[in-house]
Amino acid sequence: MKRIGVLTSGGDSPGMNAAVRAVVRKGIYHGLEVFGIYQGYSGLIAGNIKKLELGSVGDIIQRGGTILYSARCEEFKTEEGRQKAIEQLKKFGIEALVVIGGDGSFRGAQKLTELGYPTIGVPGTIDNDIPGTDFTIGFDTALNTIIDAIDKIRDTATSHERTFIIEVMGRDAGDLALWAGLAGGAESIMIPESETDIENVIERIQQGHARGKKHSIIVVAEGIGSASEVARKLKETAKIETKVTVLGHIQRGGEATAFDRVLASRLGAGAVDLLLKGEAGLMVGVQNSEVVAHKIDDILTDRHQLDKQLIQLAKELSI
Ligand code: F6P
Repeated sequence: MKRIGVLTSGGDSPGMNAAVRAVVRKGIYHGLEVFGIYQGYSGLIAGNIKKLELGSVGDIIQRGGTILYSARCEEFKTEEGRQKAIEQLKKFGIEALVVIGGDGSFRGAQKLTELGYPTIGVPGTIDNDIPGTDFTIGFDTALNTIIDAIDKIRDTATSHERTFIIEVMGRDAGDLALWAGLAGGAESIMIPESETDIENVIERIQQGHARGKKHSIIVVAEGIGSASEVARKLKETAKIETKVTVLGHIQRGGEATAFDRVLASRLGAGAVDLLLKGEAGLMVGVQNSEVVAHKIDDILTDRHQLDKQLIQLAKELSI
């Protein structure tokens, strides 16, 4: 194997650049040529591919976003689209790939392996919703962005004795909400993995009021619905006035934390190691601080499990 390609796909996440850097530098260290595929699978189909040198990935370890750009590509899901992609891989002499992204990206990675192009997946998403790894690249940075926002909102919530509802991303997963709620001392956390009925939220607010505490923070995972809906229910059911903040895409940007940079470096390099060993169709992850590999087939059929002990801890500490 002489030439490998690397692409980022799906929703970008801070630390993807550090992962690209690791793939490029680790590849070059081992005598490979590394090609950057721009705009994910769309760029692969279009042949938007350039050779990357050591300097191409200089000064990017800290940067949010992805220098390779990202896209969600419908065409690659078709036979015709994949054939066009294969033609481009042949044209550039690329023999194997590293795909950095979430589960949608891994479905594409699996197809490439089936078509004879060994591909390794690297989990990059702020959602932390991929099984087979304790953390995905970008989760820690997004979490810290949320915590920064919660801390600021708490200042004004306390001054005005208000209840704030903060909606965070995560798609169907509650990891961001749970970790942020725990780290931000939220009074209630609403996540898809554990049912929190509105009566329970009201009860907690009212208990706080009875103790003389008139402010509270409710963190809502987007997977359970919208913060405005929760606000409407609180008003209708218990006449509780709230302020709503939807953090949105701010959670996807910003300089990667040290944790994400190290994670991305380990996983990016780990992916190249696997390719050098002749492996294919695997996702590299980190479990119990060790770099591990799992079959992408298993990753696509398994479900990511939220830590139940954290859910219980958050309940016990937010009384
Ligand atoms: O998967 C990452 C993520 O940011 C989710 O948390 C969110 O639901 C989704 O992507 C938003 O996607 P888009 O940027 O396409 O609106």
